[in-house]
Amino acid sequence: MCLRVTNLYKNSCYSIITKKIYTSSILSKVNPNWGSTKPHRRVKLYYKLNAMTDPVVEKALAPLRTSVKEQGDFVRQLKATGAPVLDIQKAVAELKLKKKLLDDKELELMPATAYFDRAKMENLLKRRFFYHQSFSIYGGISGQYDFGPMGCALETNLLNLWRKFFILEEQMFEVRCSILTPESVLKTSGHVERFADLMVKDSKTGECFRLDHLIKSHLEKVIFDKKTSEEKRKECENIIIKLDGFNKKELEEIIIKYDIKSPITGNILTEPIEFNLMFATQIGPAGNIKGYLRPETAQGIFVNFQGLLEFNQGKLPFAAAQIGSSFRNEISPRSGLIRVREFVMAEIEHFCDPSDKSHAKFSSVTDLELTLYSACNQMDGKTTERITIGEAVKSGMVANETLGYFMARIYKFLKLIGIDDKRLRFRQHMSNEMAHYACDCWDAECLTSFGWIECVGCADRSAYDLTQHAKVTGVRLVVEKRLPEPTVVDITEIIPIKSIIGKEFKQKANIVCQELKNLSPSEVLTLQKQINEEGKYLINVDKEKFTITKDMIQIKSGPETRYVEEIIPNVIEPSFGIGRIMYALFEHSFQIREGEETRTYFSLSPIVAPLKCVVLPLSSKEEFMPLVKQISSDLLKLAVSHKIDDSAGSIGKRYTRSDEIAVPFGITIDFDSLKEPHTVTLRERDSTKQLRIPVSEIASTVQELTDGLLTWQQATEKYPVFEQQESTKLPEF
Ligand code: ATP
Ligand code: GLY
Repeated sequence: MCLRVTNLYKNSCYSIITKKIYTSSILSKVNPNWGSTKPHRRVKLYYKLNAMTDPVVEKALAPLRTSVKEQGDFVRQLKATGAPVLDIQKAVAELKLKKKLLDDKELELMPATAYFDRAKMENLLKRRFFYHQSFSIYGGISGQYDFGPMGCALETNLLNLWRKFFILEEQMFEVRCSILTPESVLKTSGHVERFADLMVKDSKTGECFRLDHLIKSHLEKVIFDKKTSEEKRKECENIIIKLDGFNKKELEEIIIKYDIKSPITGNILTEPIEFNLMFATQIGPAGNIKGYLRPETAQGIFVNFQGLLEFNQGKLPFAAAQIGSSFRNEISPRSGLIRVREFVMAEIEHFCDPSDKSHAKFSSVTDLELTLYSACNQMDGKTTERITIGEAVKSGMVANETLGYFMARIYKFLKLIGIDDKRLRFRQHMSNEMAHYACDCWDAECLTSFGWIECVGCADRSAYDLTQHAKVTGVRLVVEKRLPEPTVVDITEIIPIKSIIGKEFKQKANIVCQELKNLSPSEVLTLQKQINEEGKYLINVDKEKFTITKDMIQIKSGPETRYVEEIIPNVIEPSFGIGRIMYALFEHSFQIREGEETRTYFSLSPIVAPLKCVVLPLSSKEEFMPLVKQISSDLLKLAVSHKIDDSAGSIGKRYTRSDEIAVPFGITIDFDSLKEPHTVTLRERDSTKQLRIPVSEIASTVQELTDGLLTWQQATEKYPVFEQQESTKLPEF
């Protein structure tokens, strides 16, 4: 999403605490065991796949939808009539509350179209070492995970596909920038000041809680308590509505008044403290350069804008991309890979002309239908809608073609890797959620057993970042745009003499020059007058005063023919969290074989599956070995990743083991394979169907199947079906 600063922080903390409350308060209404904090809890999730069509559900939701709509209309009316900001804030807070009631009810009432057993899936992920908690032999650190062989291979495959899909197909420029970032850069981006919020700690255990969310969850409990008087209930509701507007002292007073304690231990809490999500460090042995581990990869691209623009011959539009780790000291990471402290991001910054946000390839996606949850629908208490991206841009729902194009590409990418279309939506930020500089922002959200999770943010960030970095560094981060025809303008301009200014002001010279160039014509006249009369002019930069003397500048005035104008590009930013996407993929592909509760597996698509096939000799007898070696060597020649499983155990058990790590195809060398002409069986993981294929063709067939050049159906038409039924209970050979 369009992160940055207050919004980013708000959102991250929101999820930590409210998602937990959400699980416990909402799901527990359906089943009291759900939402407990026990590890590997059993969570059943009733996905709201048919929500839009179920009349019974719709009837139950109708009053809540109406209440959201009424409040949404009220907010609109306040805005239209220019009501005081505080009134608008209050009304928006109430709108959020009503929207949450609607969302919660929606999830509660969904028909049981799907069922999900998270504990089973987590057990499998751990058992087959996809990933597990880092440093676990030392007790583990929450929010940090080590990827095992299968997690690594899956991530590599996802990233390779991402590179092909975005960097290659969209001709982007890839960069790899430093993770260790000096404070000055993150001050400019706003992270130092605003990537923080108030929190309190459990005075004994040190556990941290975001202050406003802690208060909110406590007051919600008071409101729902049957013993609470009407008067008290009203008072609590009123506090919740105004919560966003309270300062540190006021929040602290609420903690005292309501005697709020740690929700986990009941211990008293510390005073509120400011907490910044970035990991601070020092760069260099002297410790005088303060730095941070980057909280996003994007800033690395912005600070390299000049080099990238030059690389593109000074022209717009172009896009740069970066894949790499980011770090956020999340307050209490609890939902597996979804909220971690160290995670891989893949970010794109597409730079374009602010007056032309059309996209050359938009026509190739106009007919693509997406599930969109517009800000308007959210305000009206309505649900999502299926709409083509062409229509959404045309109607103005999505701000421009470039943003729409990227949403379409994000959708196609997620679908390609195997995200379930029905559990994917784009949710637009409401105006109160959006950073002030962003003009439109849509999050690609995946439905998981943790609820709807933002996996990719896609924002139009306008010219914010380049403007900020230019202001602070004095470096012009602009593009020269050719004018349709030359224009003659009267100018009064200062030309700073850099050699003299440089000697005098050293590191500040660039900013002083920039500030001089930015003076308006009337300020230039004042400067001229003061220098003539007093011999100097004082200029303010960064709260410091600099004395400008006559020898430091030249003043140019008169008519000038202009052929170009300088513009600050706008930025469209798709930002992918690879870990979250992986997690959603695990949930969306997790399967339990019908009637065999213990046979669990991931039906990952062959293009992302960690390994493409497994080679299984039915017997460990020597005569099987030459064929095993030959097939493995043929597969390697075609770069098909595989594993040889010649371990003891029935073939059924070995199939089960390879299913568990999502291997889509199994080549079995059986006794018939030893006879001329040599053939093997090829088993497809999801259907468990098998074909008999000549050894000479097996490697290329698997390659074609995994590359999507051949479908299983087509293979079935080409080769005879092998009828033997597999079972885990087959006798061992
Ligand atoms: P949230 O509100 O859920 O914390 P965010 O809005 O802060 O997310 P962005 O700053 O937009 O997220 O980051 C872009 C992407 O990075 C997100 O869409 C998400 O996939 C991923 N991401 C952000 N924070 C984390 C985290 N703590 N752990 C894992 N992935 C994350
Ligand atoms: N292809 C051998 C078996 O499944 O039994």
